[in-house]
Amino acid sequence: MLSGRRVVLGVSGSIAAYKAADLARRLVRAGAEVTAVLTENACRFITPLTLRTLTQRPVVTEFFSDPQSPVPHISLAQWADLICLAPATADLIARAAQGRADDLLAALILDTRAPVLWAPAMNTRMWENSLTQENVQKLTSLGHHWVHPASGDLACGETGKGRLAEAEDIVQAASDVLSPPGPWSGQAVLITAGPTREPWDAIRYLSNRSSGKMGFALAAAAAARGARVTLVSGPVDLAPPPGVRLVSITTAREMHAAVLSEFPDAQVIIAAAAVADFRPAHYRDGKMKKQEAPPTLELVPNPDILLELGKKKEGRILVGFAAEDQELVSGGRAKREKKNLDLIVANRANGADSAFGAEAAAVTLIDAQDRVEEIPRQPKEQLAGIILDRVEKLFKT
Ligand code: CTP
Repeated sequence: MLSGRRVVLGVSGSIAAYKAADLARRLVRAGAEVTAVLTENACRFITPLTLRTLTQRPVVTEFFSDPQSPVPHISLAQWADLICLAPATADLIARAAQGRADDLLAALILDTRAPVLWAPAMNTRMWENSLTQENVQKLTSLGHHWVHPASGDLACGETGKGRLAEAEDIVQAASDVLSPPGPWSGQAVLITAGPTREPWDAIRYLSNRSSGKMGFALAAAAAARGARVTLVSGPVDLAPPPGVRLVSITTAREMHAAVLSEFPDAQVIIAAAAVADFRPAHYRDGKMKKQEAPPTLELVPNPDILLELGKKKEGRILVGFAAEDQELVSGGRAKREKKNLDLIVANRANGADSAFGAEAAAVTLIDAQDRVEEIPRQPKEQLAGIILDRVEKLFKT
C-alpha cells in the first residue's frame, strides 16, 4: 500500500525509539523506501545500525555525516514523499512549531514540501500541557497530520495518554496521507509540462515561453488527491511537487520517448506541455560561427505526441491543451477531435490574457459531447483543481 513511496522516518529521543525498528520494518514491508533520520538523543535509545539493516539504506544522524551530500536536509526534503516522525518528542514538536532548524531533523521538517505525519510519544502531562497542545494546533493549522498517542502504561511507571500509537496504525496513517481515499487514490496519472528545447548547435536552441506552471499545478493537485503521478517535463524553473515522480527531458523527441514508455501503465494522461512542433533539420556540434550560419534555418517536424497517444488510447482518459491565438472554441474543438481526446483545455497563446508564462489563466473546456465551459481567469493552482474535477467525472463508475 506504500509501494514505491519514499518515506523519511524521523526518530527523536524517547524510550519508544526502539519501536522505530518495528515501524521501519513494516513500512518497508508495505513497499516504502525508508530513510531513517535519528536525532542525537534517539541514537542513545536505538542504534543507526539497527535501522540501516532494516531499511537497507544509509541512516542520517547529523548535518555533516555524509560527504556525498553536504546539505542532507535539503536533498532528503526533496527526496521524501512523506516525513513520518515516530516517535516524536515534545521537544521536537516544539522546535518544529517554532520553525527551528537546530538539528538535521528540525531543518528537514522546516525545509520539506512533503506531507508531515507525527506520531508523538511522551509522558501524559507533557502531552496534555497546553504548550504542547498549542504547538500541535499550530502544526495542524499548517497542514501537518497526526497519529495521536494511545493510552496505557508509560515508561515512567504511570498510566495515561502518551504511548506511541501502534506501528500498524502509523503505517495505515502514512498510507492514508499519501493516498487519501477517493476516486483518484492509486490512479496512475501521466502529465507533460513545460516547453521543449530544440538545439541548433551546442549553445543555441528553439523553444517557447511555457513556464511549466500549469502542468506542475496539475501534478501537485493530482498527487494531493492520492494519484500516482509521473510528470514528464521540459526545462523549467520549478521544484517537483511532493509525491510526484519527475522525468526531466529537453527535446520533443526525448519527451516522445519518455511519454511512450510511461503510457502503457497510465490511466489518465494530461498533456500540458508546449511541445515544439519543429526542430532544426541539422545539428552542429560546437558553436556555429557567424559566417558559417546558413541564411535560413531549415526545420523538420517533431512527432505529435498526443496525436499518437489518441490513436492507441483504449480505455484511458486523454486530456489535451490547445494554445490558440484566434478562434479558441473552434480551434480547441478541431484539436480535440483530431487527437481523439476526452477533454481539451483551450487557452490564449498571446495578448493580455495569454496563459503562457502567467500565474493565472482563463480557459475554455470542451468535452467529447461538445459541451463548452468557460472558466474565468484564476491562479493555475485553482484551475488545476477545476480541471481535475471535470476529469473525475469521466472516471468509470
Ligand atoms: N502536443 C504534443 N506533441 C506535439 C505538439 C502538441 O503532444 N508535437 C500536444 C500539446 O501538449 C497539447 C496539444 O497537443 O496538449 C495541442 O498543442 P498545440 O500546440 O495547441 O497544438 P498543435 O497540435 O501543435 O497545433 P498548432 O500548433 O497548429 O496550433
